[in-house]
Amino acid sequence: MSYFARIASSYDSLRGMAYHDDLVRVVSKYTDVGSILFDIAGGTGRLSIPICIELGLRLELLDRSDEMLSVAKDRVAKEGGIVGGHPVVFHKGDAYSIFNNKVRLDHVRLFTWMNAIHHIRLSFVPQLVNVMLKASHLLILSRSKKQNDRSYLGSQFKGFGSKETRLYDMDEIISTCEKSGLRLAEANEYSYPKTVPKNTLLKEVEEKKYSTFDLYTEDEFMDALKDFRERLTVEPSHLRFQSECMILVFTRL
Ligand SMILES: C[S@@+](CC[C@H](N)C(=O)[O-])C[C@H]1O[C@@H](n2cnc3c(N)ncnc32)[C@H](O)[C@@H]1O
Repeated sequence: MSYFARIASSYDSLRGMAYHDDLVRVVSKYTDVGSILFDIAGGTGRLSIPICIELGLRLELLDRSDEMLSVAKDRVAKEGGIVGGHPVVFHKGDAYSIFNNKVRLDHVRLFTWMNAIHHIRLSFVPQLVNVMLKASHLLILSRSKKQNDRSYLGSQFKGFGSKETRLYDMDEIISTCEKSGLRLAEANEYSYPKTVPKNTLLKEVEEKKYSTFDLYTEDEFMDALKDFRERLTVEPSHLRFQSECMILVFTRL
């Protein structure tokens, strides 16, 4: 079973919504009521559905995981099938399937690509730029390699930083996008305070609720887990740390 199939039902509660307000503020600058937001690898829609409701945007959401899409569809059903005043258009498939001419993209005002550039990779950008309408926008939300290294697990769980080689630093993202025909509109780094009961975090780690753990062999993971359990014994019952991310917006020239 794939990682996202395994965690789809608990994904939303696991990830939280710390950056919702910052996202809404940024998205509102590049859209108007009724604009189309196309969420690439949108998963359960935990970020894009509330944004579109709040700003009155039409949502199209693509993901390749049936299980993640099914959570998104249930969520939309709970809204009476309507988000931002319109039905949501779902696309099931790999990110590259949007280039097969069956998906209409010439009306999209803003593409969002959140917490997923490390899954699809930046090599996707030049092709995406080719289908973007002039003056439309691409918003990328991600954790940089440096931010991941500084995170609680990055600094406390053996190998969490060094194993996670899929993340990019901000400069790499900007340079790839600019070489592909996008102009940087804004780049922001955010840091949110988090308080988590240590038993909760330990349970999430034991259940491998972060895709980075899929990069360990079973022996490496068990060894790192043992070390982590020992470290936690000296910590207070609640762990306090910062959770960081970056939001970049580009404009199609
Ligand atoms: C970490 S989740 C992010 C979901 C959502 N954007 C969010 O921030 O909550 C990554 C998502 O990317 C999807 N995904 C990974 N590789 C993909 C690909 N090649 N094409 C389409 N979706 C992909 C997964 O199914 C998953 O739903």
